[in-house]
Amino acid sequence: MIILANDGIAAGAKAELEALGFTVDTDKYEGEALEQRIREVECIIIRSATKIREALIDKAVGGKLKLMIRAGVGLDNIDVKYAEEKGFVVRNTPTASSAAVAELAIAHMFSLARHIYIANVTMRNGEWNKKAYKGIELGGKTLGLIGFGRISQEVAKRAIALGMDVIYTDILGASDLVPEAKFVEFDEVLANSDFISLHIPFIPSVGVVLGDAEFAKMKDGVYLVDTARGKVVSEDALLKALDSGKVAAAALDVFEEEPTPNEAIYTHPKISLTPHIGAATSEAQDRIGEVTVAICKEVLL
Ligand SMILES: NC(=O)c1ccc[n+]([C@@H]2O[C@H](COP(=O)([O-])OP(=O)(O)OC[C@H]3O[C@@H](n4cnc5c(N)ncnc54)[C@H](O)[C@@H]3O)[C@@H](O)[C@H]2O)c1
Repeated sequence: MIILANDGIAAGAKAELEALGFTVDTDKYEGEALEQRIREVECIIIRSATKIREALIDKAVGGKLKLMIRAGVGLDNIDVKYAEEKGFVVRNTPTASSAAVAELAIAHMFSLARHIYIANVTMRNGEWNKKAYKGIELGGKTLGLIGFGRISQEVAKRAIALGMDVIYTDILGASDLVPEAKFVEFDEVLANSDFISLHIPFIPSVGVVLGDAEFAKMKDGVYLVDTARGKVVSEDALLKALDSGKVAAAALDVFEEEPTPNEAIYTHPKISLTPHIGAATSEAQDRIGEVTVAICKEVLL
Protein backbone atom coordinates (compact mmCIF):
# COMPACT_ATOMS: atom_id res chain seq x y z
CA MET A 1 0.00 0.00 0.00
CA ILE A 2 1.19 3.50 -0.79
CA ILE A 3 0.96 6.45 1.57
CA LEU A 4 1.41 9.88 0.02
CA ALA A 5 2.85 12.36 2.54
CA ASN A 6 2.25 15.37 0.33
CA ASP A 7 3.48 17.99 2.85
CA GLY A 8 6.26 15.81 4.30
CA ILE A 9 6.35 13.53 7.36
CA ALA A 10 8.66 13.12 10.39
CA ALA A 11 11.58 10.78 9.57
CA GLY A 12 10.72 8.42 12.46
CA ALA A 13 7.12 8.02 11.32
CA LYS A 14 8.21 7.37 7.72
CA ALA A 15 10.61 4.65 8.91
CA GLU A 16 7.90 3.05 11.08
CA LEU A 17 5.39 3.03 8.23
CA GLU A 18 7.98 1.47 5.93
CA ALA A 19 8.76 -1.16 8.57
CA LEU A 20 5.03 -2.01 8.55
CA GLY A 21 5.29 -2.61 4.79
CA PHE A 22 3.88 0.67 3.46
CA THR A 23 5.58 2.58 0.65
CA VAL A 24 5.81 6.24 1.68
CA ASP A 25 5.91 8.77 -1.14
CA THR A 26 7.19 12.15 0.08
CA ASP A 27 7.18 13.87 -3.31
CA LYS A 28 5.03 17.01 -3.51
CA TYR A 29 2.20 16.81 -6.05
CA GLU A 30 0.06 19.75 -7.10
CA GLY A 31 -2.73 20.43 -9.59
CA GLU A 32 -3.29 17.70 -12.18
CA ALA A 33 -0.37 15.62 -10.90
CA LEU A 34 -2.06 15.45 -7.47
CA GLU A 35 -5.43 14.63 -9.06
CA GLN A 36 -3.75 11.65 -10.74
CA ARG A 37 -1.58 10.53 -7.79
CA ILE A 38 -4.42 10.63 -5.24
CA ARG A 39 -6.13 7.80 -7.18
CA GLU A 40 -3.06 5.56 -6.88
CA VAL A 41 -2.48 5.72 -3.11
CA GLU A 42 -4.36 4.19 -0.17
CA CYS A 43 -3.73 7.15 2.11
CA ILE A 44 -2.86 10.82 1.80
CA ILE A 45 -1.27 12.68 4.71
CA ILE A 46 -1.23 16.48 4.60
CA ARG A 47 -0.21 19.36 6.86
CA SER A 48 -1.61 22.86 6.25
CA ALA A 49 -0.25 23.47 2.73
CA THR A 50 -2.23 20.95 0.65
CA LYS A 51 -5.95 21.58 0.27
CA ILE A 52 -8.36 18.70 -0.29
CA ARG A 53 -11.45 20.34 -1.75
CA GLU A 54 -14.53 18.79 -3.37
CA ALA A 55 -13.02 18.76 -6.89
CA LEU A 56 -9.98 16.76 -5.73
CA ILE A 57 -12.19 14.41 -3.69
CA ASP A 58 -14.25 13.74 -6.84
CA LYS A 59 -11.04 12.72 -8.64
CA ALA A 60 -10.18 10.30 -5.83
CA VAL A 61 -13.54 8.49 -6.04
CA GLY A 62 -13.10 5.11 -7.73
CA GLY A 63 -9.37 5.02 -7.04
CA LYS A 64 -7.48 3.25 -4.24
CA LEU A 65 -7.76 6.02 -1.65
CA LYS A 66 -9.36 5.10 1.70
CA LEU A 67 -7.86 7.46 4.27
CA MET A 68 -7.04 11.18 4.53
CA ILE A 69 -4.97 12.31 7.50
CA ARG A 70 -4.47 15.92 8.50
CA ALA A 71 -1.20 15.74 10.45
CA GLY A 72 -2.20 18.54 12.81
CA VAL A 73 -5.34 20.05 14.33
CA GLY A 74 -7.22 22.35 11.94
CA LEU A 75 -9.33 20.43 9.43
CA ASP A 76 -10.25 23.57 7.48
CA ASN A 77 -8.11 22.55 4.49
CA ILE A 78 -10.16 19.38 3.93
CA ASP A 79 -13.83 19.36 2.88
CA VAL A 80 -14.45 16.80 5.60
CA LYS A 81 -18.21 16.35 5.29
CA TYR A 82 -17.99 15.88 1.52
CA ALA A 83 -15.08 13.43 1.83
CA GLU A 84 -16.95 11.38 4.43
CA GLU A 85 -20.09 11.36 2.26
CA LYS A 86 -17.96 9.89 -0.53
CA GLY A 87 -16.83 7.12 1.83
CA PHE A 88 -13.36 8.30 2.80
CA VAL A 89 -12.10 8.15 6.39
CA VAL A 90 -10.80 11.55 7.53
CA ARG A 91 -8.68 11.89 10.67
CA ASN A 92 -6.48 14.48 12.39
CA THR A 93 -4.08 14.48 15.35
CA PRO A 94 -5.83 16.82 17.80
CA THR A 95 -3.71 16.53 20.95
CA ALA A 96 -0.20 16.13 19.55
CA SER A 97 0.63 19.82 19.14
CA SER A 98 -1.24 21.50 22.01
CA ALA A 99 1.88 22.14 24.13
CA ALA A 100 3.83 23.48 21.16
CA VAL A 101 1.15 25.99 20.21
CA ALA A 102 0.65 27.00 23.84
CA GLU A 103 4.38 27.69 24.27
CA LEU A 104 4.38 29.79 21.09
CA ALA A 105 1.45 31.88 22.35
CA ILE A 106 3.28 32.51 25.64
CA ALA A 107 6.52 33.28 23.74
CA HIS A 108 4.65 35.89 21.69
CA MET A 109 3.24 37.44 24.87
CA PHE A 110 6.76 37.89 26.27
CA SER A 111 7.92 39.20 22.90
CA LEU A 112 5.18 41.86 22.89
CA ALA A 113 5.58 42.78 26.55
CA ARG A 114 9.32 43.41 26.18
CA HIS A 115 9.49 44.58 22.52
CA ILE A 116 11.76 41.63 21.70
CA TYR A 117 10.45 41.24 18.15
CA ILE A 118 11.10 44.85 17.17
CA ALA A 119 14.35 45.26 19.17
CA ASN A 120 15.72 42.40 17.07
CA VAL A 121 14.95 44.37 13.92
CA THR A 122 16.23 47.78 15.04
CA MET A 123 19.46 46.47 16.61
CA ARG A 124 20.29 44.76 13.34
CA ASN A 125 19.91 48.22 11.75
CA GLY A 126 22.53 49.60 14.15
CA GLU A 127 20.04 51.33 16.50
CA TRP A 128 20.24 51.36 20.33
CA ASN A 129 16.65 52.21 21.33
CA LYS A 130 16.95 51.43 25.04
CA LYS A 131 14.53 54.18 26.12
CA ALA A 132 11.84 53.18 23.61
CA TYR A 133 11.72 49.63 24.93
CA LYS A 134 10.41 50.03 28.43
CA GLY A 135 8.11 47.04 28.74
CA ILE A 136 5.60 45.50 31.11
CA GLU A 137 5.57 42.30 33.15
CA LEU A 138 3.14 39.47 32.50
CA GLY A 139 2.80 38.73 36.22
CA GLY A 140 -0.33 40.34 37.68
CA LYS A 141 -1.89 40.98 34.24
CA THR A 142 -5.19 39.50 33.11
CA LEU A 143 -5.07 37.07 30.21
CA GLY A 144 -8.36 36.54 28.38
CA LEU A 145 -8.65 33.35 26.37
CA ILE A 146 -11.17 33.02 23.55
CA GLY A 147 -11.95 29.31 23.25
CA PHE A 148 -11.00 26.94 26.04
CA GLY A 149 -10.12 23.69 24.31
CA ARG A 150 -6.91 21.68 24.36
CA ILE A 151 -4.44 24.44 23.42
CA SER A 152 -6.09 27.16 25.47
CA GLN A 153 -6.00 25.03 28.63
CA GLU A 154 -2.25 24.53 28.16
CA VAL A 155 -1.84 28.31 27.74
CA ALA A 156 -3.90 28.86 30.90
CA LYS A 157 -1.71 26.53 33.00
CA ARG A 158 1.47 28.26 31.85
CA ALA A 159 0.02 31.76 32.32
CA ILE A 160 -1.13 30.89 35.85
CA ALA A 161 2.38 29.65 36.65
CA LEU A 162 3.66 33.07 35.49
CA GLY A 163 1.36 34.84 37.96
CA MET A 164 -1.29 35.95 35.48
CA ASP A 165 -5.02 36.03 36.22
CA VAL A 166 -6.74 33.92 33.59
CA ILE A 167 -10.30 34.41 32.35
CA TYR A 168 -11.79 32.57 29.40
CA THR A 169 -14.88 32.21 27.29
CA ASP A 170 -16.06 29.24 25.23
CA ILE A 171 -19.28 28.45 23.38
CA LEU A 172 -19.39 25.19 25.36
CA GLY A 173 -19.58 27.13 28.64
CA ALA A 174 -17.52 26.67 31.81
CA SER A 175 -15.02 23.86 32.31
CA ASP A 176 -13.43 22.65 35.54
CA LEU A 177 -10.25 21.37 33.87
CA VAL A 178 -8.10 24.32 34.98
CA PRO A 179 -9.75 25.39 38.26
CA GLU A 180 -7.75 28.63 38.67
CA ALA A 181 -9.06 29.93 35.33
CA LYS A 182 -12.44 31.71 35.47
CA PHE A 183 -15.22 31.38 32.88
CA VAL A 184 -16.77 34.71 31.81
CA GLU A 185 -18.95 35.91 28.93
CA PHE A 186 -17.28 36.86 25.63
CA ASP A 187 -17.79 40.62 26.20
CA GLU A 188 -16.16 40.37 29.64
CA VAL A 189 -13.04 38.86 28.08
CA LEU A 190 -12.97 41.82 25.69
CA ALA A 191 -13.51 44.42 28.43
CA ASN A 192 -11.24 43.05 31.16
CA SER A 193 -8.16 41.53 29.52
CA ASP A 194 -4.68 43.04 29.31
CA PHE A 195 -3.74 40.25 26.90
CA ILE A 196 -6.18 38.38 24.64
CA SER A 197 -5.22 35.09 23.02
CA LEU A 198 -7.43 33.24 20.52
CA HIS A 199 -7.72 29.44 20.46
CA ILE A 200 -10.75 28.69 18.29
CA PRO A 201 -11.22 27.15 14.84
CA PHE A 202 -12.26 29.26 11.86
CA ILE A 203 -15.83 28.32 11.04
CA PRO A 204 -16.94 29.90 7.72
CA SER A 205 -20.58 30.22 8.85
CA VAL A 206 -19.42 32.12 11.98
CA GLY A 207 -16.79 34.18 10.16
CA VAL A 208 -14.75 36.91 11.87
CA VAL A 209 -14.84 36.78 15.67
CA LEU A 210 -12.83 39.97 16.32
CA GLY A 211 -13.85 42.90 14.11
CA ASP A 212 -14.30 46.66 14.64
CA ALA A 213 -17.14 46.24 17.16
CA GLU A 214 -15.16 43.79 19.31
CA PHE A 215 -11.96 45.87 19.24
CA ALA A 216 -14.02 48.86 20.42
CA LYS A 217 -15.02 46.90 23.55
CA MET A 218 -11.42 46.09 24.54
CA LYS A 219 -9.28 47.91 27.11
CA ASP A 220 -7.08 50.65 25.69
CA GLY A 221 -3.57 49.29 25.19
CA VAL A 222 -4.57 45.61 25.08
CA TYR A 223 -2.14 43.07 23.56
CA LEU A 224 -3.52 40.51 21.09
CA VAL A 225 -2.11 37.09 20.19
CA ASP A 226 -3.53 34.94 17.38
CA THR A 227 -2.09 31.46 16.95
CA ALA A 228 -5.48 30.02 15.92
CA ARG A 229 -6.55 31.03 12.40
CA GLY A 230 -5.97 34.29 10.53
CA LYS A 231 -9.56 34.62 9.40
CA VAL A 232 -11.00 34.77 12.95
CA VAL A 233 -9.54 38.29 13.30
CA SER A 234 -10.30 41.03 10.76
CA GLU A 235 -6.84 42.24 9.72
CA ASP A 236 -8.35 45.59 8.62
CA ALA A 237 -9.92 46.08 12.04
CA LEU A 238 -6.67 45.05 13.75
CA LEU A 239 -4.63 47.55 11.71
CA LYS A 240 -7.06 50.34 12.65
CA ALA A 241 -6.93 49.33 16.31
CA LEU A 242 -3.10 49.27 16.27
CA ASP A 243 -2.90 52.67 14.60
CA SER A 244 -5.38 54.25 17.05
CA GLY A 245 -3.49 52.80 20.04
CA LYS A 246 -6.49 50.68 21.16
CA VAL A 247 -4.26 47.63 20.67
CA ALA A 248 -0.72 48.23 21.97
CA ALA A 249 0.79 45.44 19.88
CA ALA A 250 -0.25 42.16 18.29
CA ALA A 251 1.39 38.82 17.60
CA LEU A 252 0.31 36.72 14.65
CA ASP A 253 1.27 33.17 13.72
CA VAL A 254 -1.64 32.88 11.29
CA PHE A 255 -2.90 35.20 8.56
CA GLU A 256 -5.92 35.86 6.37
CA GLU A 257 -3.72 35.00 3.38
CA GLU A 258 -1.04 32.30 3.74
CA PRO A 259 1.73 32.01 2.66
CA THR A 260 1.54 35.58 1.29
CA PRO A 261 0.23 37.82 4.11
CA ASN A 262 -0.89 41.39 3.48
CA GLU A 263 2.04 43.81 3.27
CA ALA A 264 0.36 46.21 5.72
CA ILE A 265 0.45 43.39 8.27
CA TYR A 266 3.98 42.05 7.82
CA THR A 267 5.55 45.52 7.67
CA HIS A 268 3.66 46.91 10.68
CA PRO A 269 6.03 47.96 13.51
CA LYS A 270 3.59 46.82 16.22
CA ILE A 271 3.13 43.26 14.99
CA SER A 272 5.27 40.29 16.07
CA LEU A 273 5.25 37.71 13.27
CA THR A 274 5.85 34.00 12.87
CA PRO A 275 5.02 32.00 9.71
CA HIS A 276 2.41 29.50 11.04
CA ILE A 277 4.90 27.59 13.19
CA GLY A 278 2.59 26.79 16.12
CA ALA A 279 3.05 23.03 15.80
CA ALA A 280 6.58 23.20 14.42
CA THR A 281 8.59 21.73 17.28
CA SER A 282 10.56 18.50 17.07
CA GLU A 283 8.51 17.06 19.93
CA ALA A 284 5.13 17.94 18.39
CA GLN A 285 6.16 16.63 14.97
CA ASP A 286 7.33 13.37 16.59
CA ARG A 287 4.02 13.05 18.47
CA ILE A 288 2.06 13.85 15.29
CA GLY A 289 4.12 11.14 13.54
CA GLU A 290 3.31 8.56 16.25
CA VAL A 291 -0.43 9.30 16.05
CA THR A 292 -0.31 9.18 12.25
CA VAL A 293 1.31 5.74 12.30
CA ALA A 294 -1.33 4.52 14.78
CA ILE A 295 -4.14 5.78 12.51
CA CYS A 296 -2.63 4.07 9.43
CA LYS A 297 -2.35 0.79 11.35
CA GLU A 298 -5.91 1.05 12.63
CA VAL A 299 -7.58 2.00 9.35
CA LEU A 300 -5.42 0.33 6.68
CA LEU A 301 -4.09 -2.92 8.19
N1 LIG B 1 -0.73 27.96 14.80
C1 LIG B 1 -0.74 26.66 14.59
O1 LIG B 1 0.18 26.10 14.01
C2 LIG B 1 -1.90 25.84 15.10
C3 LIG B 1 -1.68 24.50 15.45
C4 LIG B 1 -2.75 23.77 15.96
C5 LIG B 1 -4.01 24.35 16.06
N2 LIG B 1 -4.19 25.64 15.68
C6 LIG B 1 -5.52 26.27 15.79
O2 LIG B 1 -5.91 26.28 17.14
C7 LIG B 1 -7.31 26.02 17.21
C8 LIG B 1 -7.64 25.46 18.58
O3 LIG B 1 -7.07 24.17 18.72
P1 LIG B 1 -7.48 23.21 19.93
O4 LIG B 1 -6.70 21.95 19.75
O5 LIG B 1 -7.39 23.94 21.21
O6 LIG B 1 -9.01 22.94 19.54
P2 LIG B 1 -10.17 22.44 20.48
O7 LIG B 1 -11.24 21.91 19.57
O8 LIG B 1 -9.64 21.57 21.56
O9 LIG B 1 -10.71 23.80 21.18
C9 LIG B 1 -11.39 24.80 20.48
C10 LIG B 1 -12.40 25.40 21.45
O10 LIG B 1 -12.94 26.59 20.88
C11 LIG B 1 -14.31 26.65 21.24
N3 LIG B 1 -14.94 27.59 20.30
C12 LIG B 1 -15.18 27.41 18.98
N4 LIG B 1 -15.69 28.54 18.44
C13 LIG B 1 -15.74 29.45 19.44
C14 LIG B 1 -16.16 30.80 19.51
N5 LIG B 1 -16.60 31.47 18.43
N6 LIG B 1 -16.10 31.43 20.71
C15 LIG B 1 -15.66 30.77 21.80
N7 LIG B 1 -15.25 29.48 21.80
C16 LIG B 1 -15.29 28.84 20.62
C17 LIG B 1 -14.79 25.22 21.16
O11 LIG B 1 -15.96 25.03 21.90
C18 LIG B 1 -13.58 24.47 21.75
O12 LIG B 1 -13.69 24.31 23.15
C19 LIG B 1 -7.54 25.03 16.06
O13 LIG B 1 -8.87 25.06 15.62
C20 LIG B 1 -6.60 25.51 15.01
O14 LIG B 1 -7.28 26.42 14.14
C21 LIG B 1 -3.17 26.40 15.20
